[in-house]
Amino acid sequence: MIPSTLDAVVTEIADEMRARSDRGVVASYIPELGRIDPNQFAITVVTQDGQVASGGDCDVPFSIQSVSKVFTLTLALGLAGDRVWNRVGREPSGSPFNSIVQLEREKGIPRNPFINAGAIAVTDVILSGHQPREAIGEILRFMQFLADDDGIYIDHNVAASEDESGFNNRALANFMKGFGVLDNPVEYILGVYFHHCAIAMTCRQLATAGRFLANNGVRPETGYSVVTQERARRINAIMLTCGHYDGSGEFAYRVGLPAKSGVGGGILAIVPGRASVAVWSPGLDTTGNSHLGRIALEMLTTRLGWTIF
Ligand code: DON
Repeated sequence: MIPSTLDAVVTEIADEMRARSDRGVVASYIPELGRIDPNQFAITVVTQDGQVASGGDCDVPFSIQSVSKVFTLTLALGLAGDRVWNRVGREPSGSPFNSIVQLEREKGIPRNPFINAGAIAVTDVILSGHQPREAIGEILRFMQFLADDDGIYIDHNVAASEDESGFNNRALANFMKGFGVLDNPVEYILGVYFHHCAIAMTCRQLATAGRFLANNGVRPETGYSVVTQERARRINAIMLTCGHYDGSGEFAYRVGLPAKSGVGGGILAIVPGRASVAVWSPGLDTTGNSHLGRIALEMLTTRLGWTIF
């Protein structure tokens, strides 16, 4: 069979990435992530008409970390609607993902739902009135539903490792609690937060889970509406402006797509109306985003002419 242009481009990118020696640096502030082999790379593209193109280690599960924040935001908006925006803003922070500096000036309201402080506030919304165990289960089941795969799991070693080393996140959460921004006990919120960051998924699963964002809020394979068209558009807007923290401008300049990164080295990128793309390479750049992941996405959008601009 003659490979499609998409298959050929994805294979080409996987081959080029495999050959590169600049891999970035694996996150080590969560000790369990520091043990991951940086010589891994994966890419999966799932198009709206159901075509799947994969390359590299696309069936190896990795820690999705902050990519989970797209899905917790989606869940929180479903539960509380626009009241979420009383707790968290929608502006790029221009600061690293774990920064505390803006919180004091802005009365404990985080700049956006993707920096750690913002995601902790979003987790508080999901937790409301539930036990941590129930909230964790709800988030995990949402991921399994979106990816149509019950095999998605939480890596408890990663969650425990982050809990043991989570001094910075405890500082952020306690600071927000002091401003009255969080309702639930800090340890409950962080328990849920550490566990949703520790969800493990493959690129194939992650790209599948992202399809509703590329398709006006609807899962294309079933016609099931996950969010309204307006909400999907807005989540994409926040991914574009805030998805890579203080690297968001550079990412938009080079790749030109809404996307969300995680310190596990994963990136979910959305090509509205066309495709959902997941890439993974564990080595990070200086802004905490996957080094080869970003380069691979830049190649993909350049070679296929995919952009929202
Ligand atoms: O809270 C943390 O530091 C991690 N669980 C998530 C941070 C993250 O993924 C930032 N992304 N690039």
